[in-house]
Amino acid sequence: MVVKFMEEVRSLNEFPIVRFLNLVREVFRSYPVFVDWNTLSFELDARENSVSFSNSFVFLKNGEPVGFVVTCIRRNRGRIDAMGVVESEKGSGLAQRILAHALEVLRWQKVQKVILEVLETEKRAVRFYIKNGFKTVRRLDTFIKECPPVSSRHNFVKADYRWIHKSSLEASINLKRRLNWQREPVTLLLSDGRYKMARTHIGRDQGYLVWGSTKDSAYIVDCAPVTNAEVYDQMLNISAEYICMSENRASCTIAGVPENDPLHTSAERNGFRKVLTQLEMELHLY
Ligand SMILES: CC(C)(COP(=O)(O)OP(=O)(O)OC[C@H]1O[C@@H](n2cnc3c(N)ncnc32)[C@H](O)[C@@H]1OP(=O)(O)O)[C@@H](O)C(=O)NCCC(=O)NCCS
Repeated sequence: MVVKFMEEVRSLNEFPIVRFLNLVREVFRSYPVFVDWNTLSFELDARENSVSFSNSFVFLKNGEPVGFVVTCIRRNRGRIDAMGVVESEKGSGLAQRILAHALEVLRWQKVQKVILEVLETEKRAVRFYIKNGFKTVRRLDTFIKECPPVSSRHNFVKADYRWIHKSSLEASINLKRRLNWQREPVTLLLSDGRYKMARTHIGRDQGYLVWGSTKDSAYIVDCAPVTNAEVYDQMLNISAEYICMSENRASCTIAGVPENDPLHTSAERNGFRKVLTQLEMELHLY
């Protein structure tokens, strides 16, 4: 038998990070949402999303990296953070081998359910995941709103990440929230130092706000009143106003809001416009 090529699998914890990031850049070159991790932003994303370096892999063909998969694990729940193959390997079966490998190691880790998010418009990727047994669970919408002129000066005070963690846990129960991975209380806890965090009084309730900014826009990672769902609209509006003013940006975005979460209803009710949709898909391993 003639061996045409040598395929090799390396886990991410034993692969040079810069070489890995170059591969990611190449794979996502024509992807509509710009994926441009640098060493620092990847490390921060990895920490906050519970990326498992020993269960993430780079595939090499004749010594050249041609595909990768990044996985996250939280107890018995897994997530595919990102995966892909270089252009010349699309349709070759490599992507399927990569996914099968990742699912097998997640199974070994006793992961029962794997989720992922994929842009609804990326028909090829969606088709690939469906073909591999994933089912769409719900939609995650990204919203934007031009910043309104400031109508009132609302008082936010800096909050400690432990307080934010505790409050987001309480809010998730009290408000029957349906959080996605990037908005879970543990994500906010692990993000310590990456985002700005504040608290405010809202009527008789308290509210928390976690945010950041890019050069174009301020963005809300999450915000909610802690106990009273009725003041969610007000909490969202003052949060958007506050971050636009304090970050000096003309618009406010909120990424990947699950369609069944109260933040989604509030965003729709308060003039936020949908700009893109991801599908959250899942696969049961056991
Ligand atoms: C997503 C990805 C990993 C899939 O690997 P792949 O080798 O292209 O996948 P396959 O060819 O095995 O499967 C793709 C399926 O979509 C179909 N397809 C191809 N182009 C399509 C299109 N424009 N619209 C709909 N379906 C399409 C293929 O026919 C195939 O289905 P089939 O096997 O039933 O015929 C790969 O395309 C990739 O790396 N894309 C860039 C990165 C990315 O999008 N990653 C996913 C998000 S994290």
